[in-house]
Amino acid sequence: MKIGLLKERNQAEKRVALIPAAVTKLSEQGFELMVQAGAGIAAGYTDEDYIKANAKIVTDDEVFCADIITAVNVKGAMAEYVLAMVKPQQIIIATLDPLTQHNTIRTLAAKHVTAFGLELVPRITRAQSMDVLSSMATIAGYKAVIMAADKSPRLFPMMMTAAGTLKPTRAFVMGVGVAGLQACATAKRLGAVVEAYDIRPAAQEQILSVGARPVVLDIEADHSQAAGGYAQEQSDDFIQRQQQAMADVLAQQDVVITTAAIPGRPAPKLITKAMVEQMKPGTIIIDLAAETGGNCELTKLDEEVVINGVTIVGPSNIACRAATHASQMYSTNIENLLKLMTRAEGQVILDFEDEVIKETCATHQGKIISSRLLDLIKLDQPQATTAGV
Ligand code: NAI
Repeated sequence: MKIGLLKERNQAEKRVALIPAAVTKLSEQGFELMVQAGAGIAAGYTDEDYIKANAKIVTDDEVFCADIITAVNVKGAMAEYVLAMVKPQQIIIATLDPLTQHNTIRTLAAKHVTAFGLELVPRITRAQSMDVLSSMATIAGYKAVIMAADKSPRLFPMMMTAAGTLKPTRAFVMGVGVAGLQACATAKRLGAVVEAYDIRPAAQEQILSVGARPVVLDIEADHSQAAGGYAQEQSDDFIQRQQQAMADVLAQQDVVITTAAIPGRPAPKLITKAMVEQMKPGTIIIDLAAETGGNCELTKLDEEVVINGVTIVGPSNIACRAATHASQMYSTNIENLLKLMTRAEGQVILDFEDEVIKETCATHQGKIISSRLLDLIKLDQPQATTAGV
């Protein structure tokens, strides 16, 4: 079978879905690799690297002759392009943002495309090597701390110098999933005193395991954990009590990294304008939830807002700021998913009895088949179509 690798079309997107090392491995497994010219340049991989890895460099039209299409970020301009070019019966493997980009999902179903949305990979041990959300969150957590360290007027470690002792930075991480844990670990390695809070009690042990101190609020969340280990959305009353309890903790920090998210829902508002006004001038807030509305009331996507000397940064797609390593991890995730799908040399045969295949597949044979999209988001099926029949 032929695997096509697309060049990303969104301006800020620097990642590539398959790196040359993965191309070599897939070609050894019997696949034919077709790479759209220039696909890897922004991530540091030239067309020559792909040719050496046994791929053929192809034009825009040729790449859509492949049986399987791989891409990173099928949103915006890239979604328009893919939806215009993709053909019935093709398999696409990419991040499709299926919980919010409903039109993309409905169109892929209507076009009889078999679409794998990598965000839907189940959070089970067997699927960890295919878990793109965890890979990208790891990079985001690390980068958020590096951004904060760069913007902060303070140094992270304690320093005892001839010119006096510098106190270490106090860093606070709110929302301790994969990104939050990596942020705790990175801030700790840089020498900060790190505290962290998550609504899920299970996170406390993980916070301790990376050398940070869990902050426990004297309020109780009802059913804080939903299926798949994700947080459960809380009532307005709980969020208000959480904000009150959090204000004092925030007022003592130099750096705050927020990552709190509920899949498919707007980010919970953890920091209000009033709380920011009580914080110390010079404090840096990096809001990793900016793309889903932000954990801070004042966050503006891709902007820096300064209020009373507190800087609030709301970066989007932070993983593409480390495009080489992000591409390496993403590529390995796809390679492992393809390995699971491969039942004969160079041949993908989809086994819908397999939990990972079943859960990750958003659309197949003209229908939306993902139970998460049908049950959680309650997507309705596209209008009946004869495409590909
Ligand atoms: P996420 O990106 O969905 O959310 C980030 C964090 O925000 C979560 O820890 C969540 O509990 C927290 N949060 C949500 N609302 C909050 C609020 N009001 N206040 C404070 N914190 C709040 O999370 P991520 O990183 O995708 O992880 C989700 C779950 O999946 C976690 O339980 C994680 O341990 C689990 N997981 C399991 C894996 C596996 O077994 N293969 C792999 C990766 C993650």
